[in-house]
Amino acid sequence: MTFFDNAYLGVPTWDIGRPQGAVLRLARAGLIEGSVLDAGCGTGENALLVAGLGHAVVGVDLAPAAIAKADLRARARGIAATFLTWDALRLDELGRVFDTVLDIGLFHCLQPWERRPYAASLHAVLRPGGRCHLLCWSDRNPFGRGPERVTRSAIRAAFRSGWTVETIEGESLETRLPEGEAHAWLARLRRGPDRPAGSGRPAGSSGKHDLAADRDRRP
Ligand SMILES: C[S@@+](CC[C@H](N)C(=O)[O-])C[C@H]1O[C@@H](n2cnc3c(N)ncnc32)[C@H](O)[C@@H]1O
Repeated sequence: MTFFDNAYLGVPTWDIGRPQGAVLRLARAGLIEGSVLDAGCGTGENALLVAGLGHAVVGVDLAPAAIAKADLRARARGIAATFLTWDALRLDELGRVFDTVLDIGLFHCLQPWERRPYAASLHAVLRPGGRCHLLCWSDRNPFGRGPERVTRSAIRAAFRSGWTVETIEGESLETRLPEGEAHAWLARLRRGPDRPAGSGRPAGSSGKHDLAADRDRRP
């Protein structure tokens, strides 16, 4: 049994029983468009919020127990949403394309070497020009509490190829931990410009040094 399967036998610290405030803010700002994939959807609260707003939503999670709970919640509330036990590193095998992807807390669960394959997996299911909104545990949180602390430059590095990192802003991630809210990064990632065949770098890229990434590396 994996760490996540085990966690969903109870109520994990990230499962707050309601959508994240950050997702509500994205919805109110009109930043959630068309069909939506919720990658690492857990028990489905964010996906169900978005489905309730009229979007066609698919939620995927590696933990069958999370998907079973999400399915139950959807049925109990009469909300149409599809939940699948699926590895977010193999999204190309879904055979679907979405207008928007949400990642609320999945990226920081991945091993560092899984991040670029994950970005490629998301790329395969997002329409060109579509956006991924990624909310993750930030390096502004103290060391030793919670999951892997993620820097902005790590997000930029993972989404270096085939993506435009539009913004990475400070947000909060609500939890069931005693302190309640944690520091998070909210990244707005647009699919494209895509790498033309045979090119060593994304179309439109000057190939110049990534000054923004350097800025993020400074203390
Ligand atoms: C911190 S939880 C967040 C869950 C949910 N988004 C929420 O806000 O409650 C991270 C989730 O990612 C899932 N996960 C981890 N690795 C995954 C993978 N490779 N593919 C799909 N889901 C994965 C875990 O099972 C877990 O449900």
